[in-house]
Amino acid sequence: MDFAEQLKSSIDIVKVVGEYVRLRRVGTSGRYTGLCPFHQEKTPSFSVNQTRQFYKCFGCGVGGDMIKFVMEIEGMTFWEALKLLAERNGIPLPKRSDYSDAETKLRSALMEMHSIGAQLFQNNLRSPQGAEARAYLERRGVSPETIEQFGLGYADPSGQSLVRRLNEAGFPQDFLDASGLVRRRQEGGGLYDSFRGRLMFPIHNETGKPIAFGGRAMRDDDQPKYLNSPETPIYRKASVLYSLHRAKESMRRLNRGVLVEGYMDVIGTYAAGVHEVVASCGTALTPNQVKAIHRHADSVIVNFDPDTAGANAAERAIPIFLDEGMHVKVVTLESGLDPDEYVKNFGQEAYRAKLEAASGYFHWLADRARTKFDMRTPEGRVDAFKSLLPAVQKITDKLERAAVADDLAGYLGLERGLVLDQLKRAVTDRRAPEARTRVTTQVPAIERILLGAFLGSDRARREILPLLAPQMIDGFSTRDIFEALRHTADLEGAAAFAALESRLTGPAQTLLHEVAAADEISDEQAHFHQAQACLRRLEAGLRKKQMDELKLRVKTAEREGRVREALDWMSELNRLEAAQRAAGIAAE
Ligand code: UTP
Ligand code: MN
Repeated sequence: MDFAEQLKSSIDIVKVVGEYVRLRRVGTSGRYTGLCPFHQEKTPSFSVNQTRQFYKCFGCGVGGDMIKFVMEIEGMTFWEALKLLAERNGIPLPKRSDYSDAETKLRSALMEMHSIGAQLFQNNLRSPQGAEARAYLERRGVSPETIEQFGLGYADPSGQSLVRRLNEAGFPQDFLDASGLVRRRQEGGGLYDSFRGRLMFPIHNETGKPIAFGGRAMRDDDQPKYLNSPETPIYRKASVLYSLHRAKESMRRLNRGVLVEGYMDVIGTYAAGVHEVVASCGTALTPNQVKAIHRHADSVIVNFDPDTAGANAAERAIPIFLDEGMHVKVVTLESGLDPDEYVKNFGQEAYRAKLEAASGYFHWLADRARTKFDMRTPEGRVDAFKSLLPAVQKITDKLERAAVADDLAGYLGLERGLVLDQLKRAVTDRRAPEARTRVTTQVPAIERILLGAFLGSDRARREILPLLAPQMIDGFSTRDIFEALRHTADLEGAAAFAALESRLTGPAQTLLHEVAAADEISDEQAHFHQAQACLRRLEAGLRKKQMDELKLRVKTAEREGRVREALDWMSELNRLEAAQRAAGIAAE
């Protein structure tokens, strides 16, 4: 057994996928469903089959085993996925360096450099040269415990510490260049540290490994205030959320996330006991980041800075959450404070109370609209209402839409008739609901059922499969799959499925995924009986075809006066008819 197979046989895909997607068990079968992490959807079409150890999305068509899942969701190469699965499950990796391709080597070197960097920065902060940074943190109310929890560190001003450490570790030049951790001098080409004299915030991937840094200046004249790592092969800004690996467990438990703007906001609110908090890292929120939140919770509270920039960012974030089908609330803190400052000024309790009292995004939007339009005139009020319509239109449920519109009208002091009129017009403009691109391939029922039965019963594969005559499956649209199945008769369970899957490509593979994922029976015995029933029907069909042929031969022989031959054909025909009757199928 090669290492990939060994991994797959000792880890459960439900657990692997469950780290990233909230899965619900379907009935008593080994099937789970959830929202697909690979495309935008509001109702689950993503399915994980425990018996087959494989996943499939009926919405966007993706599917495969746990290794493919990890590759896709983490953006990893094959070997990285193996490594991650092995590490997470305490399975020792084979010591063979030829396991990795060039990209894997680069990325694993980058991961290592970031670990080294994070360690170095942390040590600096604890050492005498970190005194100023420690004092700064203390002034800002960050406890030593929180410093450790968030792995905060300090990049000294020399510009040589990390370079030296990485050189000692023997990383090649091109890897150093790709890391974003060091820069090259224009003249002479010497290297120096990207982060100098800054307070360091490590940014982790969802597994909790450092993949980038944000570095805060400690004096006002040091610009920019925050210097962030550039994009690298291990840091895709549009998909990463600060502190997601710390937040995700609480997010799932509470079924909600809190989104703030800054690193310090995350740290301040986390320390205040709000553990479900994340931030984007200095970029505008993206659909991918929203998806990452939605994988762990259905609702979100947006708590951005109370300045114009923050309010605008919140306004842009809301539709992204709505498109992803999430519930959104918005908190604005008074006195112009950001979450971190609020906790410091008013205390943890007060901040948590603010979150609990967060208003639905509609009232928040309406309050925004009030400030933008002249609410003293009917025209101004209508315009304010109109400005909210795009958001109203995103509500798919008709009744809820009407209720919200009604509520808004009251809130803005509008006449009901006007609102209904506007709403009707808006509804006709409503864009079509989420496009359904289901990949339900048309396959005759018997092929589907038989395939499901063979996948579900090792015994059926051993005993029934050899009885399938080539003529029986000649006309099958899934013939390729059945041919491939013959090569898996001596394998068992998920291994057989994996072997089968690897033999197929293109439409045949898609089809296999569909059949496998749709199958709801989990009982081997039932599968075996189904296979038997299918075989009987196929045999009968074959006999019927043979009988039709015989009838024709009998007739021809009679016409041409070959009596002996006609009698021979006739007795053969009788034999088949008897068999057909015995099988309980009318000879028609
Ligand atoms: P803030 O200025 O609100 O940062 O910017 P903050 O986290 O509250 O930090 P303090 O309280 O001033 O120390 C919000 C986020 O925008 C990004 C950072 O991710 C920051 O956390 N940012 C801000 C930058 O990337 N660069 C900057 O120069 C400023
Ligand atoms: Mn701040």
